[in-house]
Amino acid sequence: MVVLRLSIVLSLLSWLAAAQKCKIVFDGRVSSDLVAADFDKPNDIFDNKFVLGKGLAFSDALRLLPAAAGGMFDVAAAAEPAEVLITDNSIFNDQVAFRRAELIPASNNGADASTQGVKTVHFSVLKDGVRPLNLSHEYQLAFLESQDFSTNQFVLKTGTILGGAGGADPDTLQLFGNVNQGQVLFSTAFQDGVFHNFALTLDFEKLTTQVFFSRANDALKAVTDVLKNDISGQGQFHFGVLKKPVGGVGDITKNGFQEAGINEGVIFGGIFEEDSADGCVSLSP
Ligand SMILES: *[C@@H]1O[C@H](CO)[C@@H](O)[C@H](O)[C@H]1NC(C)=O
Repeated sequence: MVVLRLSIVLSLLSWLAAAQKCKIVFDGRVSSDLVAADFDKPNDIFDNKFVLGKGLAFSDALRLLPAAAGGMFDVAAAAEPAEVLITDNSIFNDQVAFRRAELIPASNNGADASTQGVKTVHFSVLKDGVRPLNLSHEYQLAFLESQDFSTNQFVLKTGTILGGAGGADPDTLQLFGNVNQGQVLFSTAFQDGVFHNFALTLDFEKLTTQVFFSRANDALKAVTDVLKNDISGQGQFHFGVLKKPVGGVGDITKNGFQEAGINEGVIFGGIFEEDSADGCVSLSP
């Protein structure tokens, strides 16, 4: 009898621990009453101006999918995954050799609390079989760009990495630490038809990064130790598609080849950041 009660108490306690919710810093999960055009005007989810090709609006660069198609953190919040699209017109700020469209959390102005203290940023990526990437090119899918634009403190890349960094198979997701050091923190095959869930615990005081990862609805697991990584310099989180040119010399934002007829996209789910000052990290919804 006593043993039975103890086991009930223990399972209740572990259920409570699992259900514990960390404090949210920003939330990029799109509630299902919203449509792409809602992102053309100021809103409390994503910046409505950056990063887009000249003359484009987010309704040109976003495709919202049904909530049922979401990743585990979307389904739990009844949120719609958001596909970020690029075309030949995705030329931002005269970077004529890049094609790019990226989402930046609305509250993330470059000097806000999302890049202070200890935070965990979550995001999930899924391939679009209809709008595949061209793996002859290098892509950046998620990154933190410092406030002075001098570096990316982490960046998730895929495709053929310029300069030959990382592994041999271009169909790989490679998470780099600060690009000035160029260290690959974690890499994994970019599989078809399944969400790849990332969470990065960023300690902006100790300047470390720990990576958590899973596929589909599996709970996140730590896939690295707490690694030294220079994440100083605050800045903005970008989630989207930044396609670099091939064969560029010098300033590759302006030099290099991009084939015409681009129709590419990557589906994002479960974008949010939580406060991990007390060690809280959501490994599952
Ligand atoms: C992929 O990119 C390369 C280099 O830009 C280009 O030569 C090739 O035609 C592209 N392939 C497809 C299928 O678009």
